[in-house]
Amino acid sequence: MKQRLSQILFSQGFGTRRLCAGLVWNGEVAVHGEVVEDPDAEFETTGLRFTVAGQEWPCVDRALILLNKPAGYECSQKPKHHPSVMSLLPAPLRERGVQPIGRLDEDTTGLLLLTDDGTLIHKLTSPKHHVPKVYEARCKHVLTAAMVEQLLAGVELKEPEGKFQRPPEISKAEAAEIGDETLLRLTLLEGKYHQVKRMVAAVGNRVEALHRPQFGALVLPADLKPGEWRWVGSPAEVWGQ
Ligand code: URA
Repeated sequence: MKQRLSQILFSQGFGTRRLCAGLVWNGEVAVHGEVVEDPDAEFETTGLRFTVAGQEWPCVDRALILLNKPAGYECSQKPKHHPSVMSLLPAPLRERGVQPIGRLDEDTTGLLLLTDDGTLIHKLTSPKHHVPKVYEARCKHVLTAAMVEQLLAGVELKEPEGKFQRPPEISKAEAAEIGDETLLRLTLLEGKYHQVKRMVAAVGNRVEALHRPQFGALVLPADLKPGEWRWVGSPAEVWGQ
């Protein structure tokens, strides 16, 4: 589909139509390596890449990105005590309504997915779809075989209202490395509030640091530093297709 350049910029979160036209008039926008100064110039949007002030952007119907979440950031859009993860993203991504897919605690680090696709958020957070999430929990005390067995068998988590949740589904729990008896690596198929911390507490230990290296089939890239983000090509990469 062909669209005018100012319309394309508008759809990608670069502000009002007027602001978008202004970016073009000011010579800040280049398409296929050439500065375009006519906001009404039309381009085929499929596979289009453009630059604004030197930064490259893909033209996408829906944005899907992964962020290496550092500690000290809240996933909420209206954070209470710490800055929001949204402050780590450039304005066009915030402007187009990108939001976290599920939440990590303020002190949890690792792979956080964000999108402006409401249907995808629903699918990836719904317990029905059983999307595996891998966590590495550094525990205060040595993890005994009994603790790991208890986690695999399923622990009961008390909700704030006093009800018991059914045991969380855990597909794998192991003391991660020989000689490292306080590191627990586990894969959860659901995402309840403070789930890992509450599960570890329920077996008599305590999480001191929590990291998520994997969400679905997506692994946190080794060269992505804390606070940095990257485009994900398509949701199929999360499903492993
Ligand atoms: N479980 C937790 O306890 N905290 C997180 O941030 C994620 C899973």
